[in-house]
Amino acid sequence: MATTTKKTSANGTSTPAPAAPQPGNRIVTLDEFIIRSEKDFEYATGELTGLLRDIGVAAKIINREVNKAGLVNIIGVADGSDNASGDTQQKLDVYANDKLIECLQNSGECCAIASEENEDIIQVASVNNKASNYVVLFDPLDGSSNIDVNVSVGTIFAIYRRKSDPSGPATREDFLQPGTRQVAAGYVLYGTSTILVYTTGHGVNGFTLDPSIGEFCLSHRNMRIPDNGQFYAVNQGYYSKFDLEMRRYIDHCSDQNYGLRYIGSMVSDIHRILIQGGIFLYPSTRKYPKGKLRLLYECNPLSMVIEQAGGKSLTTQLKRILDMEPRELHQRCTIAIGSPRMVDELNAFVERYSALPL
Ligand code: AHG
Ligand code: MN
Ligand code: MN
Repeated sequence: MATTTKKTSANGTSTPAPAAPQPGNRIVTLDEFIIRSEKDFEYATGELTGLLRDIGVAAKIINREVNKAGLVNIIGVADGSDNASGDTQQKLDVYANDKLIECLQNSGECCAIASEENEDIIQVASVNNKASNYVVLFDPLDGSSNIDVNVSVGTIFAIYRRKSDPSGPATREDFLQPGTRQVAAGYVLYGTSTILVYTTGHGVNGFTLDPSIGEFCLSHRNMRIPDNGQFYAVNQGYYSKFDLEMRRYIDHCSDQNYGLRYIGSMVSDIHRILIQGGIFLYPSTRKYPKGKLRLLYECNPLSMVIEQAGGKSLTTQLKRILDMEPRELHQRCTIAIGSPRMVDELNAFVERYSALPL
């Protein structure tokens, strides 16, 4: 138990002395944590450590810009116009994309990049003639339509070991690997506070940005998703466009008095579900028969995080997301992800109703 001693002031009143710092309370920064965890990696060359640090640096830069988003009109810089230094003000998702690419290119810790914002893969030139073994994929700003209304957005990332020969250029096949092959995955949520959550396959940890020192500090150690939840997240506006089994499951959620929470940025919904429990659904609709969300940039990394925290993630056709064999960089898929008992419950509804006529 912490003990404190009392100091007596000049006027005779006593004030408690500050508690001595406990070993468990010591601040652990993201950089320190990454370096200490290096031994957990199968191939501890320091490259993966460097990549995670690059992403952390890019996240801080993006965070600064996201936090100023509401100021652009006040300081006279509008979207698409020139600012005082002659630069064109960029849309934030383009800005975030550029910053991530720039940080990764500068370090040369990965050999190629794929982004939701780019049609094709981007080769990264080697730095100091060092061949890299990793490729990085990301959704630079998820939920970007929420920026103008001050609602949380995030960056989602995934890291794979390349399959191609490190002496040559990276290939699309390096990216078209199932999610089970991810060596690290995570997200940064620019919310009421900014938090970076990631896994390297040894559990999930969260680091909150302390703006006063500009460091991500370990705040959520070994995160575990609750087994069950009281909330479901789905765009219920599309209810009439969902298949029968999905409508039946949503009716069930409503009958059970589960609360509906849907932010419209998947990364924010998933973060809430990771902490509070619940289920997130994006099934097929008539507009998006294969689902809307991207397998490589959104579903795979968030599925790895949720599975590592004890949750489940399936397509609404009941295939494990992480086992999907991607065929295209921008492939879409359906998803049901969250607390294991809720995903099991959804599973039972799909098995029961999916064979029935609509
Ligand atoms: P992005 O901003 O990267 O394009 O992603 C938006 C995605 C996802 O974050 C969110 O859950 C979903 O689109 C919302 O789609 P609907 O508006 O169709 O519900
Ligand atoms: Mn997205
Ligand atoms: Mn995006």
